[in-house]
Amino acid sequence: MASCAEKLKADAFNKASISKFYSQYRPKYSNELYENIMSFLGEKLAPPYTLAVDVACGTGQGTRPLADHFPEVIGTDISPTQIAEAKVTEKFPNVTYQVAAAESLPFKPNSVDLVTVASAIHWFADLEKFYDEVDRVLRPGGCLAVYTYNHEDMQLCFEGKTERLSQIFQEFIAERYKSFWDMDSFQLIRNRFRDLRLPYGDNKRSNSLKYSDDITVAGMMGYVRSMALLKRYNDDYRESLIQEFQERIMAALDVKSTPEDTVLKREFLTFLCMARKPEV
Ligand SMILES: C[S@@+](CC[C@H](N)C(=O)[O-])C[C@H]1O[C@@H](n2cnc3c(N)ncnc32)[C@H](O)[C@@H]1O
Repeated sequence: MASCAEKLKADAFNKASISKFYSQYRPKYSNELYENIMSFLGEKLAPPYTLAVDVACGTGQGTRPLADHFPEVIGTDISPTQIAEAKVTEKFPNVTYQVAAAESLPFKPNSVDLVTVASAIHWFADLEKFYDEVDRVLRPGGCLAVYTYNHEDMQLCFEGKTERLSQIFQEFIAERYKSFWDMDSFQLIRNRFRDLRLPYGDNKRSNSLKYSDDITVAGMMGYVRSMALLKRYNDDYRESLIQEFQERIMAALDVKSTPEDTVLKREFLTFLCMARKPEV
């Protein structure tokens, strides 16, 4: 019988309200990350390129940055609400989106230069099946790039208050997520991809990519509302937890401004793993 956690995982992001918060408050990724990926790809596969596919694209945070590098970019995701939201967020003429499972990719054999997966591989139902699909669709010399950030490495920065704010955030994460952290797939991100098996021997890993953005305290509440695991709580209880989190943050800040106009810096590390399909 499927456990509560497995059931939640199967349908975690398929809710319009989560997708709205997701699109608005989830962070983007650094330019340096995409420079690393393009440089790895270019080592053995020279342009012209044809197609990049961003699997489990959510609302497109990791899809749109590929638009400058490829004539065609397709984002796929198992959740119709994530795809619907991706389609209405910042449009690029060469970027489209489709509903599809990572384990069954709607692309022809040897047709894709680059497959990316941003902050999502720990959600996949069957990693081996996904890797078989990656191997089928990639051109020889094409690459897979898997990357993620990790709530546990995220810091909330504000002059003189960074340590306390980050502690409050970590307490919120630890308490609300504790019954899920033991799932094997979540261990992958908790240990910063150290145990992520890659499908090809020609691979490279990096865990030193830093990124930061500005977010208001109210925006941070939007960010935690985009966390699929909080969906297991009923609406009233979830809102009371989020309200308490906001009150703790504001008390620690001790400022006169409101949550809507108090700006924090959100800092995190991105963990990147890349692997190249043999050139034949
Ligand atoms: C944490 S979000 C990451 C979204 C986006 N890539 C980003 O960087 O913010 C995880 C995404 O994986 C998707 N997902 C989960 N399991 C999937 C599967 N088996 N196939 C395709 N997408 C999947 C979810 O619907 C969700 O949009």
